Amino acid sequence: MRVLITGAGGQLGLDVVAACVAAGDDVHAFDSAGLDIGSRSDVHGAITMLRPDAVINCAAWTAVDACEADPERALAVNGTAVRWLAEAAHRAGAHLVQVSTDYVFDGGLDRPYHEHDDTNPQSVYGRSKLAGEREALALGPSATVVRTSWVCGRNGNNMVKTVMRLAQQHPQLSFVADQVGHPTFTQDLAPVLRRLALDRLSGVVHATNQRACSWYQFAGEVVAAMGKDPSMVQPIATADLHPPRPARARPTACSTTRCCALPATRRCATSASPCAKPSPPCSPSRAPVLLSRGSGRCASVVGIWA
Ligand SMILES: NC(=O)c1ccc[n+]([C@@H]2O[C@H](COP(=O)([O-])OP(=O)(O)OC[C@H]3O[C@@H](n4cnc5c(N)ncnc54)[C@H](OP(=O)(O)O)[C@@H]3O)[C@@H](O)[C@H]2O)c1
Repeated sequence: MRVLITGAGGQLGLDVVAACVAAGDDVHAFDSAGLDIGSRSDVHGAITMLRPDAVINCAAWTAVDACEADPERALAVNGTAVRWLAEAAHRAGAHLVQVSTDYVFDGGLDRPYHEHDDTNPQSVYGRSKLAGEREALALGPSATVVRTSWVCGRNGNNMVKTVMRLAQQHPQLSFVADQVGHPTFTQDLAPVLRRLALDRLSGVVHATNQRACSWYQFAGEVVAAMGKDPSMVQPIATADLHPPRPARARPTACSTTRCCALPATRRCATSASPCAKPSPPCSPSRAPVLLSRGSGRCASVVGIWA
């Protein structure tokens, strides 16, 4: 497969490049300096010249709080730019894989979200990503929108690294216990994005690692994996955050009903490490290769990064 990857210098993009290279693809990877997806002419130029079979868009403005202060930029990068990618991919006959987020939901449900649940973004970032979803799907079936959540990888900034840094600096940490999601590791997600590109699956797919937890539980697991006492992490409510965060979305877990339950984030059957709301099992016909792999992902990844 000849694949063009945008946002290739980002946390997810780097692992998507690695997954495609490992699979033997003809990879054309662009970081933000190599291809600004906000430039219609550059996007059309690159895709027309390379004529890829697939375009995997890992580029986005992911600074959720900063998006609140600059909605125009958020919409331009996360929304309108996807139109340029969709247009050019359509003309070249390429399949577009657009990565999206659980922030398109309002977090009000007390169960994991299905792909067909109503969207209702509560933040500028969420609205801009929803605009990107619509742009990706507007030109017909040759696009997959992949919603994922709480993305963590070896590269870039993410909550695992934040918890590890804070745990080295402070004797006690506080994390919210009333926001629940599915931590998802880029090494697991990347081959799924590639597979969806290869299969040219159309429509919306939720792809997360299995099993949900709160930020409080997640932080406790990271601290434990560092060899520290998890009781150093205290639960607090979102309402108790000081100062309050400008982006007040409360994203919750993506469901795994349509497609891609990735390997369990961690095994958390013991009462000492409760993990709320396990995901429903994935339909085998929709998840051909994804249900049987490893466990203890969180601990092993922390080990790699430490
Ligand atoms: N992080 C999460 O928790 C999370 C959760 C759910 C979904 N997602 C989605 O997953 C995808 C990947 O996120 P990530 O965690 O890998 O984020 P990331 O590390 O911030 O990577 C995004 C990349 O996009 C690049 N970029 C920004 N504006 C661009 C532009 N105009 N043209 C080309 N490239 C541009 C950035 O480059 P510069 O750094 O040089 O600007 C960065 O390398 C995004 O679609 C995001 O919305 C992320």
